[in-house]
Amino acid sequence: MRNQTLKFLYLFFLAITLSLFHSANSKSLLHLKRGASISVEGNNFITSPDDSFTCGFYAMPGSKAYWFAIWFTNSKDKTVVWTANRDRPVNSQGSRISIQGADGTMVLTDVDGSIIWQTNTRKSDVSAAELLNTGNLVLKNPRGDILWQSFDVPTDTLLPSQILTKDKRLTSSSRKGSFEPGYFNLYFGSDNVLSLIYDSPDTSSLYWPNPDFDIYTSGRTNYNGSRLAVLDDTGLLQSSDHFLANASDKGFGIKRRLTIDHDGNLRIYSLINSTGLWMITWQAISQPCQVHGVCGTNGICVYAPTPKCICTPGYEMNDPSDWNEGCKPTFNNTLLNTQVKFLELSQTDYFGSDLYYKPNFTLEACRELCRNSLCKGFTYRTWGNGHCYVKSDLFNGFMSPDFPGSVYIKLPRSVQVSKPSIFHGSSTMCESREAEILVGSPSMYDIPRRTARWGYIYSFCGALGAIELLFIALGWWFLFTKHGVPASVEDGYRMISNQFRRFNYAELKKATNNFREELGRGGSGVVYKGVLADDRVVAVKRLGDVFQGQDEFWAEMTTVGKINHINLVRMWGFCSEGRHRLLVYEYVDNMSLDKHLFYLNFLGWKQRFAVALGTAKGLAYLHHECLEWVIHCDVKPENILLDIEFQPKIADFGLAKLSRRDSPDSEISRIRGTKGYMAPEWALNHPITAKVDVYGYGVVVLEMIKGVKLANWVVDDAEDQESPLKNFCRQVKEKVQCGNSSWVGSIVDPRLEGKFNRKQAETLIAIGLSCVEEDRSKRPTMASVVQTLMECEDETEIQIPDKLEFLN
Ligand SMILES: *[C@@H]1O[C@H](CO)[C@@H](O)[C@H](O)[C@H]1NC(C)=O
Ligand SMILES: *[C@@H]1O[C@H](CO)[C@@H](O)[C@H](O)[C@H]1NC(C)=O
Ligand SMILES: *[C@@H]1O[C@H](CO)[C@@H](O)[C@H](O)[C@H]1NC(C)=O
Ligand SMILES: *[C@@H]1O[C@H](CO)[C@@H](O)[C@H](O)[C@H]1NC(C)=O
Ligand SMILES: *[C@@H]1O[C@H](CO)[C@@H](O)[C@H](O)[C@H]1NC(C)=O
Repeated sequence: MRNQTLKFLYLFFLAITLSLFHSANSKSLLHLKRGASISVEGNNFITSPDDSFTCGFYAMPGSKAYWFAIWFTNSKDKTVVWTANRDRPVNSQGSRISIQGADGTMVLTDVDGSIIWQTNTRKSDVSAAELLNTGNLVLKNPRGDILWQSFDVPTDTLLPSQILTKDKRLTSSSRKGSFEPGYFNLYFGSDNVLSLIYDSPDTSSLYWPNPDFDIYTSGRTNYNGSRLAVLDDTGLLQSSDHFLANASDKGFGIKRRLTIDHDGNLRIYSLINSTGLWMITWQAISQPCQVHGVCGTNGICVYAPTPKCICTPGYEMNDPSDWNEGCKPTFNNTLLNTQVKFLELSQTDYFGSDLYYKPNFTLEACRELCRNSLCKGFTYRTWGNGHCYVKSDLFNGFMSPDFPGSVYIKLPRSVQVSKPSIFHGSSTMCESREAEILVGSPSMYDIPRRTARWGYIYSFCGALGAIELLFIALGWWFLFTKHGVPASVEDGYRMISNQFRRFNYAELKKATNNFREELGRGGSGVVYKGVLADDRVVAVKRLGDVFQGQDEFWAEMTTVGKINHINLVRMWGFCSEGRHRLLVYEYVDNMSLDKHLFYLNFLGWKQRFAVALGTAKGLAYLHHECLEWVIHCDVKPENILLDIEFQPKIADFGLAKLSRRDSPDSEISRIRGTKGYMAPEWALNHPITAKVDVYGYGVVVLEMIKGVKLANWVVDDAEDQESPLKNFCRQVKEKVQCGNSSWVGSIVDPRLEGKFNRKQAETLIAIGLSCVEEDRSKRPTMASVVQTLMECEDETEIQIPDKLEFLN
């Protein structure tokens, strides 16, 4: 007992000592007086009186380079709003900032005493530096006049009440995790219009307001020459050219900033008090690929469906870690003067760099024009009589489903290139998913710099297992729903997919009429039907009591919110308020696949094939194309919802795991799929990979072929008894080996009465069998399944046999 007390006292005093030591060690000043200095070793800072901003030496995590900077004290990652030495970081030791000399210049010196940066306050009587509550660092004289202020030399951020004037600009950082200036700028053009402009050493290109329209159409004027722009304390951004924008959380009391990000977009961010995370409450560009220069020269910005950069076919990245540097040809340019060919990329264009523009031109004539040695390719728009644009450079490339034309890339005939899969017309590329409100920082450029993000993306499956985040019962709520097609769902698909956002609890309470109409109930919570203020019908999942903390939930939602594919049930948003955790989903009209296949209805062949292909595409997207690698972990007919056109949408990411692509064997704990669809490695306690989904998919495919549930007869006690799946596979293999040409007919669902396409059926059976291989290395990847199925997608012939052949 006594020992315990002593121990306790000891720890208590130790804690006190440590905390005293700590606070003594980090000194926070309200003023930096003349003659005094701040250094990294001194661990001293200037703070604003209300402590919302801090000024001092700042280092990127894991770096020894330091910047003299101002940052938000209360944001989680100490978001920097200003740096003195943007492109010249100083050493961690021996660097200091001080107010020196007879005149009181503020000077930043490096370890060797060299002057890195200084204020232009010579010949004045500076007495002290102080940081105002607005985040403005000012130098004052003894009378209190401001002689210099950081607000006059912005970097990439404008704070509320800071004015952007005539000769000032905001310049983006070159990349995430760097303060070095990039190529994107916000400033008033010579026409008095506040603009976003890409300015690289080679090119200058205006991209906001939209250069396709004149400034009046964009709601601007150019007659007011005062050239002032300011973000006020309520979140209203306005400028002298009549530009006005409100932050979506308009009102006082919220900390905001206007930042031009490294992806070239201009955004207002609002700080969430409780989490210290930033929320985007306005942005200038809704389609990220409209930012000029975003992928550099010869790059193309695509939606996959999150925006990303790729090189024009025949070109490769100059610097694999930096899209600013663009791409270079893989061939010798002089070859373009000899024998050439043209590669068509549909729905793609390069903005600007037009050598010629010819309306009323045929495709052939346009191609002839591009024989010109200066031509790198041409765009051909099909509307009207055809429009021809001959390109001298492949710059500002973007792919857009709205673009009514194609670009034709000129390549030497000898060069072998294949089109990236994104151009093969799969649905994955079509949507721009630009969140209206999105947590954290936009991540377009994170693709090659993946490692930076993994810090806060953690094992999804494990965490989800604990909280049972998502809904198991999603499938069956449809049973209770009346038919009635919310037109907004399909019509508004584009719009809707742009709106992943955070809802507040009151909003969802209202939408669901105080959680009145229950659609389903599962282990993790209850699903309610709701109608949002904009008439969208939604499914609102209210999570049970076991859930994660606020921070994790937020982080998770940003990841899940990015997943957007036509064959995956779309998540429109979430709510995390106090103890409430809710998820808002797309409402899918038809029922789940199992209902159609096994119970109420039955599906025709075309629909079965479409479901098999769509499901494969959805899974392939999760496995191969998402920013984060996702394993579904519970692929089964109950989780495949069908929309009104029998397009499958995979639901229930409840067991999804986000994992590092480079460590596919990472462990998953405590997760189990559904018996019968679970790959053998679950039971063997082997590491779980995407191949578990391939297995589940294989079972689903075989069930669709046979029209019978193969997975539900549990053979628990009789280990030696053959499961229906194994039995079926064995039968099929035997028949195949027999070489009897009618074997397919005897396997396919007799309810189809022989009306199916033989080639497609053979392909599906072969895929099904290979997917359920015990040895997971023998199972194909979902990407290759998609490939195989697409090859026989166009088979239309449906056999009507003279004689019906039934199995059994
Ligand atoms: C020009 O813009 C400024 C700032 O928005 C405004 O104060 C001024 O009245 C405007 N001048 C004219 C002539 O509209
Ligand atoms: C911004 O909000 C104010 C006040 O709520 C409103 O008067 C104004 O029209 C809004 N402006 C825009 C561009 O939405
Ligand atoms: C956030 O915190 C600030 C300062 O503590 C407070 O004034 C403000 O009302 C808070 N805002 C919200 C939305 O809670
Ligand atoms: C490209 O080809 C031309 C003519 O064949 C040759 O002179 C030149 O050196 C080549 N350039 C490169 C970079 O290979
Ligand atoms: C395009 O060609 C058609 C017929 O050749 C002609 O009638 C029309 O005026 C032309 N349009 C333009 C814009 O030149």
